[in-house]
Parts: sequence; C-alpha cells; structure tokens
Amino acid sequence: MKEKLEEIASKAKEEMEKIQNLQELQDLKIKLLGKKSELSNMLKGLGELSAEERPKVGNMVNQVRKEIEESMAKAEEKMKAASLNQKLEKEKIDITMPSTKIKRGSKHPINRVIEDIQDLFVSMGYDVVDGPELETDEFCFERLNLPAGHPARDMQDSFYITNEYLLRTQTSAVQARTMLANTEKSPIRMVCTGKTYRREDDATHSHQFNQVEGLVIDKKELNVSLADLKGTLEVFVKKMIGANSELRFRPSYFPFTEPSYEVDVTCFKCGGKGCPLCKKTGWIEVLGAGMVHPNVLEMNGYDPNEYAGFAFGTGIDRLAMFRYGITDMRYLYTNDVKFLSQFDRKDEE
Ligand code: PHE
Repeated sequence: MKEKLEEIASKAKEEMEKIQNLQELQDLKIKLLGKKSELSNMLKGLGELSAEERPKVGNMVNQVRKEIEESMAKAEEKMKAASLNQKLEKEKIDITMPSTKIKRGSKHPINRVIEDIQDLFVSMGYDVVDGPELETDEFCFERLNLPAGHPARDMQDSFYITNEYLLRTQTSAVQARTMLANTEKSPIRMVCTGKTYRREDDATHSHQFNQVEGLVIDKKELNVSLADLKGTLEVFVKKMIGANSELRFRPSYFPFTEPSYEVDVTCFKCGGKGCPLCKKTGWIEVLGAGMVHPNVLEMNGYDPNEYAGFAFGTGIDRLAMFRYGITDMRYLYTNDVKFLSQFDRKDEE
C-alpha cells in the first residue's frame, strides 16, 4: 500500500511539472483527485482492510491527497499571476506618447452675434422671447397694420405654405404675439432673434436669414419716447459694431411704426470718409425702427391712449458680416468647415 501511495505521489509530481496552463491543471486535478482517481479508489477499498490497518492507510491516503492539493493550489496561483502579468504586458499603454488632438467644433458667427445681442439686452432688463418660423398671415401682417391687399405687403416677397400659413418674413410677427399673449397688459421689454424667409435670390440677399426684433411698451406718462429708442439703439450699435459708430435716423416707412426710421451707422470700414463698402456715402443702413403704431397697440390689446412703445429690427447676418469682416453672405450658410474653424473658441476660454 505504502509503495503504491508513494508511486502515486511521485507520478503526480512528475505530471505536475509538465503542466503548461490552467486547463491542463484542471484536467490533472480530476485525474488525480476525482471520483475515479486511484486515490479515491483506494479510499473506497479501505473497507476491505482490517480495523487496525484502516486508519493508518486512511491517514496515509489523506496525507498524499493533501500534498497533491497543496502543490496544485500553489501551481494554480503561480499560473494565474503569470497570465495576469502577460495580459498587463500586452495591454501596456505608454502614457507619455503624444495624443491625437481632439478636434472641437466652433461657434457659428451668427450664433455668436445672437448670444451677444441677448446678453446685452438681458443686461438692460429685456426678456428674450421666441416665436414660430411657420407663421400665420394674421401675426406676420394683419396684426401689424398690414391688412390683405395693403401695398406694403409687396415690400416683402413671402413663401406662402397655404392661404393662411407662410414662413415668417420678419420677426416683427413676434411683436404682435408678445402683446397679445400678455393678458395682464403689463409693460413689455423684449428681444427676439430668429430665422426669417423671403423670396429673394440676388447676390446680396439670401432666401433665409436671421433677424432681431426689439419691442418696448410702457405707460404713456413714463415718456416712452423717440429719445429712448435712440439711446437704446446707440448702446446696441456701439456694442455690436464699434464704440466709435455714429447713428443717423432717416425718416422711412413701416406700416407698424409711426413715425418710422431707417437707422444708418457710420461706415466701420472707412470711419465715415467714404469707401466702396458704403458707396462713398460714409453711412451704412443697419436698422428699421420707430414708435409702435397706435393701430398695432390697439389691435393687440393695448390702449394707445394709455400706452406707448418703440420697436426696432435688423438683420443679424449683416451684423455678423460687419463685425467679422465677412465679404460674402453665402459663407454664413454654406458651412465650409475651413471658414467656420476660424471662429474657434479660444477667446471664450
Ligand atoms: N421688420 C422690419 C423689416 O424686416 C424692420 C422693423 C422692425 C422696422 C421693427 C420697424 C420696427 O424690415
């Protein structure tokens, strides 16, 4: 018996040395210690031994079994450590290697201007409001003192979707919306920026562009006057175009304001001396503005005897062109990455 056990032990040792991986170890474990192993058979055969021999042999078998188990556990541990090391070696990352630069997008010049406009007016106590691009004839024209058949409708060629709906030609539609939605008829100070659409296709006009609209309404006795409009636009233009800009108010016509003005700004390129950009006049037309027409106040629920207001509007695309010296309007919507990447975010960090 003893010899047999010694033989099993030495054979186990030999086989253990040959083992290469965990799978082989597992197989050997079954072979040496499993139910059908020689050791198990010996334990099963203990019954046939005398009572005297039984514990002795039993002890010996268990001893050998324990030894095999222990050396197997050791081998397993070693192999696991080795395979982990191997894996770590394989997946090693050199953290000192230079990385590929992450490309970041840039803020579109139009959006930069929009954000600056909103910041400026919010700092003066205005609300930023929004309105639909698919607008009704009612809000885009009728409630702005432009009934059907009014000749001034021809000032803006529109994209009609149905008889009732069109793509808004001006953010002025939001003037009427804001007045009407304000059921308390409390004072209004709002700016609205957004897309507008007209059927134009010449070199300096796009069928889609962006406008900003401003509207202030307050009690008449608080003197909401042309002076306030002038002061507001002066702050606006100096901030958006240049601190040295001068403003000039020229009488004009819009159906929803009375009196109405076109507001010119000294040419930012020549400083007012005259150059090709300003067609040698020294002035560039920038804004439309005026005092809110009493009809418009009335139609949208404000008593013109009690309230007065001013409104203004301008094209954001043109502001962006002035500001960044962009010479072709098409750059603003053809999304050429080379062009856009000039407006990276360095100055925002
Ligand atoms: N909506 C006018 C335009 O598109 C501009 C404007 C706005 C004029 C507000 C007066 C008051 O030309």
